[in-house]
Amino acid sequence: SRVLKPVATVAVQNGAKNFSTSSELKMKVMVAGASGGIGQPLSLLLKQNPLISQLALYDIAPVTPGVAVDLSHMDTPAKVLGYKGPEELACAVADSHVIVVPAGVPRKPGMTRDDLFNVNASIVRDLAECVAKNAPKAIMCIITNPVNSMVPIASEVLKKNGVYDPNRVLGVTTLDVVRACSFIGTINGVDPRCVTIPVIGGHSGVTIIPVLSQANPAPKLTDQSKIEALTKRIQEAGTEVVKAKAGGGSATLSMAWAGARIANAVLRGLKGEENVVECAYVKSDLTEAKYFANPLCFGKNGVAKNLGYGKLNAYEQQLLKAAIPELKKNIETGEKFVSK
Ligand code: NAD
Ligand code: LMR
Repeated sequence: SRVLKPVATVAVQNGAKNFSTSSELKMKVMVAGASGGIGQPLSLLLKQNPLISQLALYDIAPVTPGVAVDLSHMDTPAKVLGYKGPEELACAVADSHVIVVPAGVPRKPGMTRDDLFNVNASIVRDLAECVAKNAPKAIMCIITNPVNSMVPIASEVLKKNGVYDPNRVLGVTTLDVVRACSFIGTINGVDPRCVTIPVIGGHSGVTIIPVLSQANPAPKLTDQSKIEALTKRIQEAGTEVVKAKAGGGSATLSMAWAGARIANAVLRGLKGEENVVECAYVKSDLTEAKYFANPLCFGKNGVAKNLGYGKLNAYEQQLLKAAIPELKKNIETGEKFVSK
């Protein structure tokens, strides 16, 4: 049976004393789209997260129960169960604390993220409908593109069902931050894990705004032209991967890494840890766009505090100005899809 049973306390084995498995940890994380290019490595990383006691893998692909069996043999505490097809979706969703959504089609060379809208909009709408009915308190982390429109879709569906909480719906922009840190690490010759930088706005082309003036350490770039080239590279990094994969899809492994990072931040907040900060795309009143990405502090109920985006220099203000009309258009497209 795939019915989830309470997590048993697992004996701590030799050499694993810090790998807490006690009954106090009862976080259920569900991955929607778990058998895909992102979903599988993401699930592999989540299976290693000691904050997770149950990992529900959902996909329409027939391989999904097999992916779950495969991961379940890893000697880490999270209990893994697989769910395949819409008839098993409600069971996968039920009682989830966090739902990570990489379900949907990726880009091929020559496509924009908006070209994915027609296929992916109904996937996210239907998932959100099921979340509204079976886990209305879950925190949804939406990876599916176009993120700028998918978050408004999920939000409108939750609203229609009377369970919307803007602090519980996130668009995942973590990969933009991960890339910015990686590129700055290379430029400065430092460990990229020591780099911090807010990436604000949204998740597509001009809406991706790396706030290089707030990077720590500052990128060792003297000319403004080099700052602009790095900005452009971060904005177009998704396309760089799409081109390099030459028809084989878009970023999957780095996205899995980034998805595991945002899920971990949300889980740490839910557990009561303080000062857990990551960027994500959420309902916002900071700008004219109804949704906007910037640093957030996570807490016991999802987003605990919106930290804003601080001071932008003249170039970054220009980038923000260019992003807002595009964001507004993307948001409207998402909202219209649900209201029609
Ligand atoms: P993929 O095709 O490899 O995997 C997608 C998976 O979703 C497949 O296993 C498929 O069976 C599944 N799926 C399709 N319809 C579904 C449904 N109704 N319910 C559940 N599962 C369903 O694609 P991928 O490379 O993993 O990319 C997935 C999405 O993530 C794409 O939309 C892509 O553009 C997006 N993406 C976003 C970011 C980001 O930074 N936010 C980064 C990379 C990719
Ligand atoms: C990315 O930034 O890698 C993703 O949004 C996938 C894509 O289509 O570029």
